Amino acid sequence: MSQWREDVPTEGSVHLPPDAHALDGIGRNHSLETALADLIDNAIDASATEVVVRFVQRQGKLRSLYLADNGHGIAPAEIDSAMTVGGRRDYHRGSLGKFGLGMKAASFSQARSLTVLTRTPDGVASGRRWHLDSAADFRCDIVAPEFVMEEVDRDWGFKSSGAGGRTVIRWDDVTGFTATDDRDRVQSFLTATITKILNHLGLVLHRFLAKGALRVFVDVEDVDRGAIGARFEAEPLNPFGYHHPGNPGYPKILTAKRDGMSLNLACHIWPGRSKLAAFKLPGGAIERQGLYFYRADRLLHAGGWDGLTVADPRLQLARIAIDITDDIAGLFSMNPEKSRITVGPDFAHLIEAARSADGSTIGDYLRDAESTYKRSRERSRDRRKMLPPGKGFEPSLKRAIGDEIPFVDGEEPVDIRWRRGDGLDFFVVDRESRTIWLNDRYRQSIIGEARGGLNDAPLVKALLYLLIEDVFRGEYLGAKDKDNIALWQEVLTAAVRSQLARSTRQ
Ligand SMILES: Nc1ncnc2c1ncn2[C@@H]1O[C@H](COP(=O)(O)OP(=O)(O)O)[C@@H](O)[C@H]1O
Ligand SMILES: [Mg+2]
Repeated sequence: MSQWREDVPTEGSVHLPPDAHALDGIGRNHSLETALADLIDNAIDASATEVVVRFVQRQGKLRSLYLADNGHGIAPAEIDSAMTVGGRRDYHRGSLGKFGLGMKAASFSQARSLTVLTRTPDGVASGRRWHLDSAADFRCDIVAPEFVMEEVDRDWGFKSSGAGGRTVIRWDDVTGFTATDDRDRVQSFLTATITKILNHLGLVLHRFLAKGALRVFVDVEDVDRGAIGARFEAEPLNPFGYHHPGNPGYPKILTAKRDGMSLNLACHIWPGRSKLAAFKLPGGAIERQGLYFYRADRLLHAGGWDGLTVADPRLQLARIAIDITDDIAGLFSMNPEKSRITVGPDFAHLIEAARSADGSTIGDYLRDAESTYKRSRERSRDRRKMLPPGKGFEPSLKRAIGDEIPFVDGEEPVDIRWRRGDGLDFFVVDRESRTIWLNDRYRQSIIGEARGGLNDAPLVKALLYLLIEDVFRGEYLGAKDKDNIALWQEVLTAAVRSQLARSTRQ
């Protein structure tokens, strides 16, 4: 047996660039919406204030997808490195870019061809294209300058000049598009896809969108008609966007410090049984309990406990926000799609060591989240059943009432309507037709500037419903009910007459 040698002897070398099929394989974990989010990260890094996602349809069929932004563009000296797989630049603090991979991985996960067309604020344009079918020797096409100008100057509908430049990413041969040219089917594909895009971008970019730092639009261009259809705008979907916390002691910040690193856990408890989209989120609230990681304000990972505890319906109100700052970045690793954070072993130790100002721990928090959930279930079970609201209530008001109050089964609802009253009484309780009639003479002073209609005056109607619903129950009107009605009549009529006097005085 020969002696083991530390160094490997060589004689010369051969040049072996990666096979172009390597490009096919990158970004496999992307979906259309995560891929677009990655391109928008680049626009944010380039100080864009507006982004447009545009589907292009010709003869019914979807052909291309564009993503245009009003950021600072790419200088000609930088564009080749921007197109290079793994081509990195100097990243400033807070930059969302990292691996020099994002744009290429995102694009090739969805399309066979990626074209980048860009113009800097001083008007210098450049364009490059990768096509997977002809990338065999890694030759990247240089786009004709006139065409670059034409594309960047298309009508993108920007409302402001942003950073003064413009970048357009164009995908052709999009693999995820439906292949049909049947307009109805394309339309349903677009509706579903655009909804998914708006939801995902609304979620991962919610901090940017809520600050007003960025607006994201989605539209569809029909090139045969030369027309751009309706525009949709992404709305912020804040996974911590409740109105009141489910437990008054929250949110609580738990902090762990070690080796100069400081990890902050913002522990939130949602109110029970919330119907807000921000609670349900795509995927469902139960799936979305747990940790939410942000890096430079971009949400990277939405829910899951990463081994900290196990998912449980009773913990569905618990969500923790963690901002990954540069000094603690070493605790985590991020997949190249930037859609998942993996925590290292130190993370679990730090979490166990974390304390709030009042000394409480992660265990205390989880117990509080669980008991808040249990209490919210008990409360709704114990509530007295009521007759449902019927005509005269706005649908959103009916929903809010239904979320809070269990209804008596199989009973006619209570309506609230306006009609001309003979006297001055504000309302009439009509048990026969199960209606509260409001005296029309006070209508204008109650609704003020608002438009009248069947469902007007929601506040007054909600109050009357809560007050009066009870007297519609039972076989006959008892003495106590009659006295209550007389009392309400006196007080409310005095109140509404005083309101009328004030509104006519102005
Ligand atoms: N919309 C854009 N505006 C300006 N520059 C961009 C844009 N998209 C991409 N770039 C440039 O291309 C480079 C490569 O992007 P990418 O592949 O996503 O890698 P990374 O963002 O990690 O650097 C970026 O670093 C940036 O310089
Ligand atoms: Mg990037």
